[in-house]
Order: sequence, then C-alpha cells, then structure tokens
Amino acid sequence: MDITLSQKGIYQISSPSLHHLFSFISSRAFRFYEDSSPKSPCVETYPVIEEGVEVVQEEDIVIFSYQDIEVRIGNPLTIEVFIGGKKVLQAEDYFETSGDLDVSLAEKEGHKNKQSDFNGGGLKIHSRSPVYGLGERSGPLDKRGYDYINWNTDDPSAHVDTFKSLYQSIPFFILFNPEISVGVFLDNTYRTHFDLNKTDPSAVKISFAKGEGDYYFFFGKMDEVVSMFTSLTGRNPLCPYWALGAQQSRWSYPSKEKVDEVIQGYRGAGLPLSVVYLDIDYMDHYKDFTVDPSKFPDIVSWLKQKKDEGIVIIPIIDAGVKAEEGYRLYDEGIENGYFSTLNGEVYHNEVWPGDSVFPAFLDEKVQTWWATHIKEFLDLGFGGIWNDMNEPASFKGPLPLDVDMGGSLHEKAHNVYGHFMVKAGAKGFELAARRLFQLTRAGYAGTAAYSSSWAGDNQSIYDHLRLSLPQMMNMSLSGQAYIGVDIGGFGGDATPELLSKWAYASLLNPLYRNHSSLGTTDQEPYLLKGQYLEAYRKALHFRYRLRPALYTELFFAEKDGNVPLRPLLYNYPADERLINENTEIMLGKDLLLIPSLFPGEQKRGGYFPADFIHVESGNLYQKGDHIVNCDLLTLPLYFRKDGLVALEDDEHTLSLLWGEKEGAWTYLYEDQGDGLDYRKGVYNLYRIEMKQGRPYICYLHHGMESRYTNIHVNKFEFPFLPQENKD
Ligand code: NOJ
Repeated sequence: MDITLSQKGIYQISSPSLHHLFSFISSRAFRFYEDSSPKSPCVETYPVIEEGVEVVQEEDIVIFSYQDIEVRIGNPLTIEVFIGGKKVLQAEDYFETSGDLDVSLAEKEGHKNKQSDFNGGGLKIHSRSPVYGLGERSGPLDKRGYDYINWNTDDPSAHVDTFKSLYQSIPFFILFNPEISVGVFLDNTYRTHFDLNKTDPSAVKISFAKGEGDYYFFFGKMDEVVSMFTSLTGRNPLCPYWALGAQQSRWSYPSKEKVDEVIQGYRGAGLPLSVVYLDIDYMDHYKDFTVDPSKFPDIVSWLKQKKDEGIVIIPIIDAGVKAEEGYRLYDEGIENGYFSTLNGEVYHNEVWPGDSVFPAFLDEKVQTWWATHIKEFLDLGFGGIWNDMNEPASFKGPLPLDVDMGGSLHEKAHNVYGHFMVKAGAKGFELAARRLFQLTRAGYAGTAAYSSSWAGDNQSIYDHLRLSLPQMMNMSLSGQAYIGVDIGGFGGDATPELLSKWAYASLLNPLYRNHSSLGTTDQEPYLLKGQYLEAYRKALHFRYRLRPALYTELFFAEKDGNVPLRPLLYNYPADERLINENTEIMLGKDLLLIPSLFPGEQKRGGYFPADFIHVESGNLYQKGDHIVNCDLLTLPLYFRKDGLVALEDDEHTLSLLWGEKEGAWTYLYEDQGDGLDYRKGVYNLYRIEMKQGRPYICYLHHGMESRYTNIHVNKFEFPFLPQENKD
C-alpha cells in the first residue's frame, strides 16, 4: 500500500482494495473516508490537524500518531486505535448480504420476518459496549440486540420495538465505556443498516447499500464525544425564551375563534400558555404560505393581538406543494424549475392538497427561493415554523428512487430532504432577522443546526409514554438539544390519567407541546377535571419555574455542545446499574425525574444515583433504591442534594433549590428572551455559589441589565446582587 500526502494533514492510502483518506481532527477524533466521498450535507468545514502527525508504514499497516493517539490502518482493511497505549477500537472491513431464507409464506399473513434484505459494504466493529444515539428510534435506551435502518419513514401506526426506522435518521452512535467511549458517525445519506450486537453479540456491523464509507470516530467521555460530534455537524441555536413555556396544538384549530377559545380555556383554568400551533386547516386548500381568509381574516392584526397577549402562533408548512396553476408558489417553482423531477418532467404525487409537487430542496437556488417565502410568512407576525411531511411523505406510494431532488437522486437525497428543507427555512429566519424557531419531523445528522425536532406521531398509549424517555435520551445523545414528544400522544384517545401523567413525564423536555390528531378525543388540559386538572396545572406551573434552568442548559448546548436531557449514566458513568435505565431522566447535573409510567400507579421503585431531595416535600432520598410516590398530585421531581438549581418564581424573583451543601453551584443564563442581540453579547451569564448559607453571584459575562431583583434560598430572601468576575 502507498501512503502519500494529499493535502496538508490529509493522507491518501492506496492499495488494490483501499482508496481512502485519513486525517486527524484532534487528538480524540479522526476521519477515515473513501477518496470519492461527496461533500457532506452537514459538515461545513473539515477540521484537520496539519502539524505534529507522525506516519509510519510497516508492510501492510500504516500507523498515524498524534499526541497520545495511534491509529493503525491495515490492508485488507482493519482499523485499530490506541489511546495512551490502550486499545480503544478494533474494526475491519465487512460486507452484508441479504439472507436467502424464503419467508414468503409468513409474509402472506402479513408478517415481516426477513432478517435482512440488505447488500452493502461497511465496517464490523468489535464491541460489547452499550450503544446509544441513532436519533429518533423505538426500543430501549441501550440499543444492543437491535438493528436499525436509516431511511426516514412516515409510519403513524404504533411505533413498537420492532420498528427499524422512524422519521429521522442520524447515523451516529456511541459505544459506551466509562473511561473512553467511542462515537461513530457514518456520513452516508443512502439507506444504511446498523446491526448493534444483534446477529453477533461481540460486534456492531454497519453497512451502506450505495455511496461511500465516510467515517468519523470520536473518543472520550460521553459528553466529550457528543460535543465533538455536534461541533462537526452543527448545534441547536438557542431557542427564544417563550419556547420553554406551554405549547398547545391540535390537528386542527380551524379558525381564529377556536384558537381564542383555546387561549381562554387555558386562562380560565389557571394554566399558563405561551404558544399555539396552526395545523394544516389554517391554509387555503392546504397551500403552503397561504392563510384561509374566511377562517383567519386579517391575520396580521390578529397575530399582533395574540403577541400582545403573550401568545406566539406557529403555522405548519408541508413539503408537498399543491400543483395548481395560478397558485403563486407553484407558478414560481414551475417557471424556475424548482421542483423535483423524474426523467426531466416535474414529479407529482399526492399529499394533503391532492396533486402535489416537491421542491428540489437540495438545490441552493431552491433553498434561497424557499427562504424568501419563509421570511414573508414570518413577517406577517408568526413566531416560528413547524415543518412537516418532509421525509418526504406521499400518499400514492413512495417517491421513485430516481426522482431528482436538486442535483441529487431520491435514493441519496431521501434522508436529507427534510434537512435541506429546514436549512432553507433557517435562511428565511436570517432574512427576517429573527431568532430561529423551527420544528421538523424529518432530519439527519446536523439538522439541529437549523431546526428542533419532535418525535413524530406517537400514540395515546402507555407504551408510548414509556417510550418517550429512552427516545428523548437517545435523540439528545445524537446532538439534538431542543426536543420533545406530543404530550398526551398524537394518535388515539388519551384518558385523563394518561394525559396528566404525560404532563409530568415531559417536564424536563425542552419542547413542551400537547398535540393530537384529527378525530381523536380533545386533550386540551383545561378540559380535564378534578385531580387530573390539578395534576396538569401543577406540572405546568412548575415547568414555568424551571425555564431558567432549561434556558441555561440550552445556552450551553449551543455554546459547547452540552447535552441538556440526559440518561442518568451520562452523569454517573461508573454506575453500571444505569446502563439501561429507561424510566428515569435527568436535566443537566442536578434535576432527576422519576415519573409514573403505568395506569393506576401510586408508588414506584426509584433509583437514586446519589443523594437527592424531593422538590415539594423536601424529603431526602439517599443513593440507592427507594419506593417513591408517583400519584397524580405528587410532582415526580428531585434535585441533587449537593447541587443547586435556579427556579423562577416570577419575572424578577429567583429561588434556589439547595440541599445545604457548602460550595454547591450552578450557572444561570439570561438574555432578552428573543431576537439576535445575545449573539452580540447582550446577555448575562452568572455562576451562583452557596457560601455560608448565602448565594454568591458572579458575572461570567455582563452584557445587559438583569431582570432579577431578589433571590430566595430556602426561607431567606437576598437581593440579587451579582459581582463582576475578578478572574
Ligand atoms: C403529520 C404530523 O406528524 C402531525 O403532527 C400533524 O398534525 C399532521 N401531519 C397533520 O398536519
């Protein structure tokens, strides 16, 4: 094999079987990729270590070393990685062939038993480690024993463990090790298959049907691995503050009167509300960027009125565009060749508006065009954009694999179609000079840079209440900071008990949105009665108090790749008990949620990885197993005894959850709540530390006047008086 320097820091490895490039990104990350790899959809710049790399060739092995990391690449392909002399990765070439078992008889009855119908090359990684990540999936937190296909899929039937694909595909996972975890990212947008210790308990096998093997490997603690991955692929920009409040949605609120009724319903029941979504029926015949004037007359002044009332309105925008002459968006797209084509003709399928066409989002010109429409729509006074049906979903069978979606055929473009739709949308926010707030259903690695995500079309069943925790934790570990699920469940009818339990179980999810499908029982919380209403109200009120903590976590997510929602293992990596803990979840380092996930449940087992205190009763739970209350009127939230959490009592008053540990500390971030000035330094960042029973507040960044005046600690009140940082 020949090794040559292709560019500074990038080495070409050539042999009859290897046509690869290698470069270090840092002493804890490298890229190994076929020299024909295309430009990534999500990596904007490829960081390369140019100096200090040593290359030694020994027969059929080349050894790249940089500081304490050594990567040995063998021919035929093997990859071995050592850090500080310790082996941390061993992988080799792998080719997957589909099984030849005839299962047609089982298929006649509707079974889908075929183990694999996949042919493609890839890598076999020797590993027995717990596996996390992979974005939105069904199944448990630890993915060992499962296999998944990366192919964005709109399937609203109840998502169960056997589902191999959902709406998003993030081909990134973490092989957990308490000392050095390994992050693996296969940047290939075709259909890919990840077998996670399923057919071989000692190996993870990843394969791609087409395209190139473009791999990134990251090494470090779990937080470092996620941060390196998001630094490469993109991070969720900070959301507006209002996006942390209660959000209400429904397919659909068909008129402004109905939306007003919903707002009144919340108010009347003493429930705070910040956002209402308009699902497809606000449009004129489901045409994107239109508003039906008979249902929402004078939309601009109505949106202004809602804004003044403190309610943000967010409309849905679908990927499928109605094919109708005389409709501006369609006419512009046809005139300029902006829609996807098949054999040179505009490709048609069916979505909500009937006959529909699909913007060729992979083309930059199309993105720019779309952005102007997003800007125009935002300028009406909408607060954000909810992007949907962008897998893309279609009602007359899937789009053929050779539809051209903007210089890239569907088979390659499919998994990034939604990604580029929201990239276009984000450009629209830039044009409108607005702080980004988008939701998307479909996505790929790095989509978070342009949009937040919700886990699509869950159902009002306890199985999905339970699924929401591991699903959120794995999405989070895949680099998505601002995420949530439809509270109460989207499909099916939520019982009052399920709905109020869901309100508790979502308490720490950055996106706190109640949404349900057409034809299902109404699940707006103000329709609840008695203890169910009381429970939902309790959850919502506490949620509003939690906003500073959520906001601070999200600020750090953008700044340094912090992971706000966490599996417990993330904070306690040495505690093996937590490897597959699916029923508890943490926000940051100090908040722990142990919700009820079953009907009729009043008490449940809870595992505390350290000493924690119940936020309402003040009861202390020492590290270990306990029976805890999880009845409807108990807030299932605990804070770490040695930690510190800043809550907001009202606009000007903070209070601290403090377990009386001297030196307990937290960060606190505040800005104007919306707009882009925080990027220019108009924000405050504090470090609050408890010393002799008093909070010492120190500015780490002082960019504006604080809105806080008082701070409570247990029974005592102090003025909120930050000192300038002397360091
Ligand atoms: C599918 C989305 O997942 C759902 O949230 C939405 O309500 C419907 N489309 C209708 O727009």
